[in-house]
Amino acid sequence: MKVCTTISELRAARAEIASKGPASTLALVPTMGALHAGHISLVRAAKARCKSVAVSIFVNPTQFGPKEDLSKYPRPSERDRALLEAEGIDILFAPSPDEIYPHGSITWVTVEGLSDKLDGRSRPGHFRGVTTIVSKLFNLIQPQVAFFGQKDAAQLAIIRRMTRDLNFPVEIVGCPIVREPAGLALSSRNAYLNPAERRQALVLHRALLEVERRFAAGERSSANLIAVAKKAFASAPEVRIDYIEIVDPDSLEPVDEISRKSLVAVAAYVGSTRLIDNVLIGT
Ligand code: PAF
Repeated sequence: MKVCTTISELRAARAEIASKGPASTLALVPTMGALHAGHISLVRAAKARCKSVAVSIFVNPTQFGPKEDLSKYPRPSERDRALLEAEGIDILFAPSPDEIYPHGSITWVTVEGLSDKLDGRSRPGHFRGVTTIVSKLFNLIQPQVAFFGQKDAAQLAIIRRMTRDLNFPVEIVGCPIVREPAGLALSSRNAYLNPAERRQALVLHRALLEVERRFAAGERSSANLIAVAKKAFASAPEVRIDYIEIVDPDSLEPVDEISRKSLVAVAAYVGSTRLIDNVLIGT
């Protein structure tokens, strides 16, 4: 595994892969570190698909709001490095903020009309930071395929659209949510939860399961399904709902009646930790 902390080291490592010929495909798994089994599932999907795999670890300051957890975001770099070494990846790109934004950033990539939906509504500027850093990573690493988790469903939709609109020659692969046995979706932010909050956090998945159950029983009205989810949240009054929405998974526009594949997305605060989760219903 080549560890690159500078852009020039990365370019040299990328050139070495390119020199092996056109069949030498490169996958990218972009992360902010604090790796868990969800990230590792992306790395394994990438390895199964491409000859070489690059993982980036960069806690991207431009996607954090002024009141968000940038400074306390977990950064277990030694542990992350050892995990990736054990997975046998080819390149770890772990730059500093100064390497990526040496002059700050006044050039942005924004997917208008999508970036202000779901998390984008609650976290203004978040997706602008995400699409800007992902564009920079695509330009720097030049992967043929990039892997993202379905847990950040809005992020996935926005990155797909950005890739299409900007003609990046990159295939975007979405990978299933990985959950703890009790149902909690894996997230680096779960590290902030104390044992009581961890139990309370299970309500996100419980609410989604209840929506799936009612959908399977024939309910097609989004308003009624959202009411079902809200009722489930009543069993955990400490948890504060940020949003529960049913939307089209590509346009992120609200869906009134479920007649095609739809995304049921929730975000909620457990203590001061904001968690998200989702399921896809319909076909
Ligand atoms: O999903 C994440 O971890 C981040 O938003 C990403 C895609 C690595 C961009 O910083």
